[in-house]
Amino acid sequence: MAIGFLMKEQIPVIQSEALAQIATAHDERSLEEVRVAVLGKKGTLTLAAAGMKDVPKEDKAEVGQLLNAARSAITSALEEKQSALQDLADQAALTGIDVTLPARAVATGALHPLTLIRDEAISILRRMGFSLADGPEIEDEFHCFDALNTPADHPARNEKDTFYFDSGKLLRTHTSSVQIRTMESAKPPIRIIAPGSAYRRDEIDATHLSVFNQFEGLYVAEDVSLPDLKGTLEYFFRELYGAQTEVRFRPHFFPFTEPSFEIDVKLTVKGQAPRWIEVAGCGMVDPAVFDAINTSRKDTAFDPNKTTGFAFGMGLDRLAMIRWGIKDIRLLIENDVRFLKQFA
Ligand code: PHE
Repeated sequence: MAIGFLMKEQIPVIQSEALAQIATAHDERSLEEVRVAVLGKKGTLTLAAAGMKDVPKEDKAEVGQLLNAARSAITSALEEKQSALQDLADQAALTGIDVTLPARAVATGALHPLTLIRDEAISILRRMGFSLADGPEIEDEFHCFDALNTPADHPARNEKDTFYFDSGKLLRTHTSSVQIRTMESAKPPIRIIAPGSAYRRDEIDATHLSVFNQFEGLYVAEDVSLPDLKGTLEYFFRELYGAQTEVRFRPHFFPFTEPSFEIDVKLTVKGQAPRWIEVAGCGMVDPAVFDAINTSRKDTAFDPNKTTGFAFGMGLDRLAMIRWGIKDIRLLIENDVRFLKQFA
């Protein structure tokens, strides 16, 4: 029989046998065996295709078409079966697993309450044009006391209250020293805030630690007045504790400000009568401070007849304790996860 005729008979047979075997293949391995048996190097369709060279010219087109059709039918049947088998395998792997159960929670960290309150305090004052300033924690007496009009016999300078090094340097007792350093290197107008650690030799108890987180501010220009001070700090505490918060200024004494005040806020803790709580110290910068700055700078950039300013200082630890009703300051440094978790 002519080879052309033979091939025309044979190819559809190879195709339908292959499709039948693919349909009955029950796993990936038997499917692969079918593929090799038909399309492999010695596969039935491969061998048939090799016979093409002997097919007479007039049959070539028809036989070629049959071959191509068979190859593509078989290839797509193999692919379909392959993905059907994969779906079955996936389903089998999932039996017994409830995919509707909620996912296991991933434990993430959270910001420390002191960081939260500091960021909030900074952002309120930033909106009012204050920028951040920094300075060393190991200070000298000039920047911590002398330039701040604090005389040698002032109790804050006592060895019982302040940590001194043998060199005569000390751990800063407030970040007012940053205000001094800023005024030494910049000219008015100055509007800065200085958050940072401050150190005092306090007996440790529920409201005192020997290191605390201070937050001081300074505004120096030509026409800064007491109403500016009051307005700025009232706004600050209302932003921090709510618009209804009452703020009061009580006359006080600080060596570096005149007049000076302590600030109280009236807070209502649930189930308790409202009460005043002291939160900050403040005042108008004493001209003696400007004199000390001019002497240190060797110029008159802070002419006490023209320059005015206000300063304030507060403890972030205290602000956080008030905000969240924290009863013991030591909780803020113990890193007990049960405590910290509540701020996550
Ligand atoms: N430096 C003062 C303190 O540490 C706080 C303060 C700052 C008071 C500025 C008045 C003006 O207690």
